[in-house]
Amino acid sequence: MKITVIGAGNVGATCANVIAHKALANQIVLVDVKPGLAEGKALDMWQTAPVNIFDTRITGVTNDYTATRGSQIIIITSGITRKPGMSRDELIATNAKIVKDVTEKSIKYSPDAVIIVVSNPLDIMTYAAYLTANKHHSKVFGMAGILDAARYKSFVAEVLNTSPRDVQALLLGGHGDTMVPLPRYTSVSGIPVSQLLNQDEIDKIVEKTRQGGGDLVKLIGTSAWYAPGAAVAQMVEAIVHDQHRIFSICAYVNGEYGIKDIYLGVPVKLGRTGVEEVIEIELNSDERKLLHDSACSVRKLKMVLDDMNLF
Ligand code: LAC
Repeated sequence: MKITVIGAGNVGATCANVIAHKALANQIVLVDVKPGLAEGKALDMWQTAPVNIFDTRITGVTNDYTATRGSQIIIITSGITRKPGMSRDELIATNAKIVKDVTEKSIKYSPDAVIIVVSNPLDIMTYAAYLTANKHHSKVFGMAGILDAARYKSFVAEVLNTSPRDVQALLLGGHGDTMVPLPRYTSVSGIPVSQLLNQDEIDKIVEKTRQGGGDLVKLIGTSAWYAPGAAVAQMVEAIVHDQHRIFSICAYVNGEYGIKDIYLGVPVKLGRTGVEEVIEIELNSDERKLLHDSACSVRKLKMVLDDMNLF
């Protein structure tokens, strides 16, 4: 298994590191535009192999896509990141061009690869990669649902003073302030969260989840990377081991939930071939409205992409 990670910034490097630690690939190629950055981080990670005991050969290159030839998975993390006070949406003009460029260059050498997009604004950048790659939409998708659900679960665990591993949850919608955490689909070892927390506590957790990425940008001064990197690695694991796992990812919706032709966070089954199916869960009218509002804000942003005339 050969995996290419484009962008050797914090998210790209962390996800390469987690993939190596989980022994999900025998080869990882890290690519960056900044001379020396990918080479240096790859070398540093490779030098942890004798200590942390893994075999994955990690190498780095500056813009040399020939080194990525024959990858089965391409992970795109390139682009500028948010500064405090910025929304993910403000990145669109710069990042759409970058995502188009790196998608073109990488699929030239790995035409059969599955593509995972991480760049923001995620739902639109995933669409941009899909249009560029000209592949079936089951092979191009984005990472956010696992990350957003992980933040949500960690807040639930914190309030309950319980292990995060016992928290199960589902989250829908765009990767932004309109994301839709679903308390009705949240449980702790099978116990509905509504039996453990009151409505006010749940509402606070939902709001904190929506602001989760932004709060980290305020604290760190740039986008988060540990949880995003780990979330990408979980998707990679599902693909590499053909696990048919069910979780929310940024997937193409083609009529499911009454929404058509956008990329949006929805539950899917993920395995070696990519998205095996989009799973439609039952939603009440409030949840449905929140999802449609979220889809509406993603669609508005997609119009900005359309107006850029890149495709
Ligand atoms: C975040 C970035 C990855 O939510 O969008 O931290």
